[in-house]
Amino acid sequence: MDIFRIEGPAELSGSVTINGSKNASLPIMAAAILAAGKSILSSVPRLSDISLFGRLLKRLGCKISKNANGDLCIDSTTIDNPVGEYEIVRRMRASICILGPLLARCGRVEVSMPGGCAIGDRPVDIHLRGLRELGAKIHLKNGYIVAEAPNGLTGKDIFLGGPFGSTVLGTANVLMAATLAKGKTVIESAACEPEMADLANCLNRMGAKIKGIGSPRLIVEGVRQLHPAEWKVIPDRIEAGTFMVAAAITAGQLRLHNCRLDDMMAVVDKLRNIGVTVEAEEDGCVVARSGSIKPADIATQPYPGFPTDLQAQFMALLSLGEGNSVIIEKVFPDRFMHVAELNRMAANLRKEGPAVIIAGVKKLIAASVMASDLRASAALVLAGLAAEGTTTISRVYHIDRGYERIEERLNPVGAKISRESI
Ligand code: EPU
Repeated sequence: MDIFRIEGPAELSGSVTINGSKNASLPIMAAAILAAGKSILSSVPRLSDISLFGRLLKRLGCKISKNANGDLCIDSTTIDNPVGEYEIVRRMRASICILGPLLARCGRVEVSMPGGCAIGDRPVDIHLRGLRELGAKIHLKNGYIVAEAPNGLTGKDIFLGGPFGSTVLGTANVLMAATLAKGKTVIESAACEPEMADLANCLNRMGAKIKGIGSPRLIVEGVRQLHPAEWKVIPDRIEAGTFMVAAAITAGQLRLHNCRLDDMMAVVDKLRNIGVTVEAEEDGCVVARSGSIKPADIATQPYPGFPTDLQAQFMALLSLGEGNSVIIEKVFPDRFMHVAELNRMAANLRKEGPAVIIAGVKKLIAASVMASDLRASAALVLAGLAAEGTTTISRVYHIDRGYERIEERLNPVGAKISRESI
């Protein structure tokens, strides 16, 4: 198991190129199931979650390889085991997005029911409701979701909203299944996240007929079959947001390449309110802070609202604000594992139900802290960059799930982070 040792405080300065999006890559990898043959995906980040998803696809019968350019090749000519095993699903909830494509391709699928995780219960009832609307028969057997549609699926008007608004992977599942259903499907209250738009655009490249991409109403004309395609995944807006906060929390300046500000309006707006300058450039932006950190109130929401995946990182930043801030988590109301750890670093955070009240402190102080989930660990790295002294973070594998060797990205721009195996 690796730990990070971070010497703080750092002042970051330089350029960082943003990688392809993890949360776009995973459902797009699942989409390769829909079309027999070899799909070629570029800009897929080299992350442990991506490797694990590759293993999941291999168990189904797919062949996974890299070409000379480093692109990910998924050959789904043969799928002879449409089963998402507990062993993998329990480690990565995103595995659930093989459900829709396998059902559409094979007419029968078994996927382990994902459990809860550090960020909450994370039910999949809306995924199942949507697939049932398309005609699937679904039951639970020994902890596995068994979904069957031996005679294929049929298009329908489906409302996919839930208690917290839209569902990202639920939209992915129903959308992918609907591409091969007979007739027209309308998905109302679809997730509008850029990652879902990237998936839908990729599906259209594969021969699907999807309209309304990027809006909450997706209209899908089912087709008889899809063909494999080449696709370049969009940049990771959450990684970009994390580096933006890194510049802000260290009072530094970072130039980000391969970053689409259009996908990040809510984040950029908050940063500017906090006193951070964000200047657009041709393929990215320059982010810098010289004045104090102004307090702010943030409520996370589905896109285009402020993303839950940047909540923890902004909490680290606002911990050093000149006054009180409030963050309300409206997507995953229990996603606060980082609160106690940030408090160990002398932050002054108080959790009240789905909200955290942040009384800004003058400085953070290094401590030994524990990573609990991907974004919470990113927040601890950011806090470690700003804190005085040596912060150690254990269970770094959480951060490796979503950030490719983050220390090798941050050290060239002024961080002092060492990775040690214990
Ligand atoms: N929900 C239900 N029922 C369902 C599905 C979702 O009640 O059937 C609830 C969830 O419990 C949650 C809310 O709806 O309260 C939204 O969850 P959503 O389904 O949108 O989350 P997800 O699709 O499981 C993806 C990302 C997460 C990101 C969320 C929200 C991937 C692989 N995962 O999860 O990313 O936080 O959308 O934007 O795309 C991360 O990258 O760190 C991460 C956790």
